[in-house]
Amino acid sequence: MIRIIKVLLFASLFVAQAGFAAEFRSEAPTVLITGANRGIGFEFVRQYAAAGWNVIATCRSPDQADELNALAAGNKQIAVERIDLLDHEGIDALAASYADQPIDILINNAGLMRGPDRGQMVGTIDYSEFDRFFRTNVAGPLKVSEAFYMNVKLGDKKIMSALTTGTGKHGIPVPGFSLYKTSKAALDAMQMEMAIRWKRQGIKVLTLMPGRVLTHGEAPEEASNAVAVEDSVAGMIAILDSATMEQSGSAVRWNGELVE
Ligand SMILES: NC(=O)c1ccc[n+]([C@@H]2O[C@H](COP(=O)([O-])OP(=O)(O)OC[C@H]3O[C@@H](n4cnc5c(N)ncnc54)[C@H](OP(=O)(O)O)[C@@H]3O)[C@@H](O)[C@H]2O)c1
Repeated sequence: MIRIIKVLLFASLFVAQAGFAAEFRSEAPTVLITGANRGIGFEFVRQYAAAGWNVIATCRSPDQADELNALAAGNKQIAVERIDLLDHEGIDALAASYADQPIDILINNAGLMRGPDRGQMVGTIDYSEFDRFFRTNVAGPLKVSEAFYMNVKLGDKKIMSALTTGTGKHGIPVPGFSLYKTSKAALDAMQMEMAIRWKRQGIKVLTLMPGRVLTHGEAPEEASNAVAVEDSVAGMIAILDSATMEQSGSAVRWNGELVE
């Protein structure tokens, strides 16, 4: 019994310290990424870390983010932290713990992406899901941007970005994704509001479209238009790297095309 308690104590110590083991280099730029445990978010962490950046890699369950924790174990410039987009107090608490830390680029990558399903189909809309989609995909990224606004203002690059999908003629042309698509359309509009609000402060707000990236185990032969996650993320990093104030408020595809 005592042995079990000792093992549990040791394990909890390890988890509690997961976010504190990082050692940032003051001369390196810093990026904050949400949803960093898998998919596109994890690839952002991998590529920025390989380029020598300080990375604040956030996810909603750090103790279950095995791949991310393994990457961070070998690179002290990666801090694994908790952000659940539905937990605004938690977001504020994390921002307070990073007060005075400049953040060059904030990437609102995390999102609720699902479909097709009946609850998202006009005629059989599930209104509790409606709320969850909008709180996750619109209010969540907005809250992260508000909470870390001062950090981005302190950064050299001053970029806030969010990942969206195509809407209207650019969108997924089948039923069953209505809540996903309309929540992302609202996110796009909120990004424009942020661009207007923080223009005078020199903050560039970019909305990024990653293309179709097969992050949910889809068979590649079913998606002829798919983009490899490495290429999509490398493209988006290049866009962020050369972002200008004139582009603020726009949406840009992973390959650099401006979306009209
Ligand atoms: N893949 C595509 O083809 C594609 C196309 C257009 C746009 N996008 C957008 O690009 C972004 C990343 O896509 P992806 O394919 O990598 O998505 P994904 O594989 O579904 O991963 C979504 C990420 O968001 C996190 N997340 C979900 N709800 C959250 C919450 N309440 N709080 C914090 N984190 C939460 C997930 O965490 P858990 O692991 O804990 O669930 C996961 O890390 C998404 O915003 C998506 O809408 C993707």
